[in-house]
Amino acid sequence: MKKYHFFWQFILLTGFSLTSPIALSADEVKVGVMLPATGTYARLGSNIQKGFKLYVEEQGGKLAGRDIKFVNVDSEGNPSKAVDNVNKLIKQHDVDVLVGSVHSGVAMAMAKAAKSSGKLMIVPNAGANQVTGPFCGVNIYRTSFSSWQTGYAAGEAMGAKGFKKVVTITWKYGAGQQMVEGFKEAFEKSGGEVIEEMWVPFPKVEWQAQLTQIAALKPDGVFTFFAGGGAVKFVKDYAAAGLKENFPLYGTGFLTDGTLQGQGEAAEGVMTALHYADDMDVEKDRAFRKAYAKAYNGESPDVYAVQGYDAAQLLDIGLTGANGDPKNVEAFSKAVRSATIDSPRGPFKLSKAHNPIQDFYLREVKGGKNIVVGIAAKALEDPAKGCKLK
Ligand code: BEZ
Repeated sequence: MKKYHFFWQFILLTGFSLTSPIALSADEVKVGVMLPATGTYARLGSNIQKGFKLYVEEQGGKLAGRDIKFVNVDSEGNPSKAVDNVNKLIKQHDVDVLVGSVHSGVAMAMAKAAKSSGKLMIVPNAGANQVTGPFCGVNIYRTSFSSWQTGYAAGEAMGAKGFKKVVTITWKYGAGQQMVEGFKEAFEKSGGEVIEEMWVPFPKVEWQAQLTQIAALKPDGVFTFFAGGGAVKFVKDYAAAGLKENFPLYGTGFLTDGTLQGQGEAAEGVMTALHYADDMDVEKDRAFRKAYAKAYNGESPDVYAVQGYDAAQLLDIGLTGANGDPKNVEAFSKAVRSATIDSPRGPFKLSKAHNPIQDFYLREVKGGKNIVVGIAAKALEDPAKGCKLK
C-alpha cells in the first residue's frame, strides 16, 4: 500500500505522466536512411551518412534524450526502385523519420510517401525544386539546396564575369534540367545567351560527340552539372579534349566537390558555385573538419558530409522541440522553423518552405582544393513556387 502511495506522490510532485517525454526517452527513434550505397552517387551517399553519424556520436548517440536506430536501404540512385524502397522503410520497418536521398527522382518518390504517411522527412542532398515547392509540407525539410538555387548562383557568377555565349551540358533528368533553368534565368538577365543545350542520359558517361561539338561552336564558356563518378570522368575528358584552356569550364559545385582526388590536374582552374568550400573562414567548420578527420582516418569532408551533419542537427532541434516525440510534427516544425542551424557552411535559417536560405560562393580549384574567390549569390532564397506553407 505504502509503495503505491509513494508512486502517486511522485507523479503529483514531478508532473510526470506515463506518456511524458521521460517515458518515451527509453525508446529508440528509428531513422530510415535511403541513400545510394552503389552506383555513380555511392560516395555522395556514404559521406552524407558519415556526416549524419558524426553529429549523433557527438551527442553521445542520443538526440533529444532518445537512442537513434538506423535502418538502411540502398537507393542505388535509382528512381524506378524508389517507391518499393521507401515503402519498405514505412510499412515494413515503421520508421519515425525518412532521411534521403541524393538523386532528385528518388527524393520525389520519398516526398510523395512522406506526404501520404505524415512521416517526418529530411532531405540531405537532392535538389528537386518540387520538394520545397508544390510538394512542401509541415513534415518535409531540406538541409542542402534547391536545384534552382545552385544553377541561379552559377548564372549570376558567369554573367558578372562578362560571359555572353555559353553552351550547357548535363545529365538529362530533373536535377540537370532544373539547374539549367535556374542558370538561364540569372544568365539571361545579365544579357547572356545559351547558344546550345546538350543532354546526356543519366547515368551515362559518354560525351565525346558533344565535346567535339563544343569545339566547333566556340562558346565563351561552358556551364555544366555532373556529380560523383560522372563528374570525375567529365572533367578529365574535357581537359583531355583540349577544351579547358579555350572554353572555361563552370558548373554547380557538385562538379568538383568530393571528386578532386580522382580529377587531379584536370580540375585545376575549374570554376563552380556552391554553398560550401574547402577554405571557409568559419569557426564551426574548423571544428567540424577536425572532428571529421579524427573520426574517419584523416579524410576531409565535402558538401555532402556537411549536409548530412546538418540533417542530424535539424533532427535534434526538431525532436528537442517535440520533447523527443517524432509524431508531434507541429512542435517539431515550430522548433525547426524558428531555429538558426549552426552549420559548417556558416549559420543558416530555413525558408517558409523549409529550404536553406544561404550564401553561394564562387570557387576555383587551386592546388587540389575548392577555394573561395568571391560571392556568387548572397542569402539566396528559393522562390518555392507552388508551396502553400506560410
Ligand atoms: C540531384 O539529383 O538532385 C543531385 C544529385 C547529385 C548532386 C546534386 C544534386
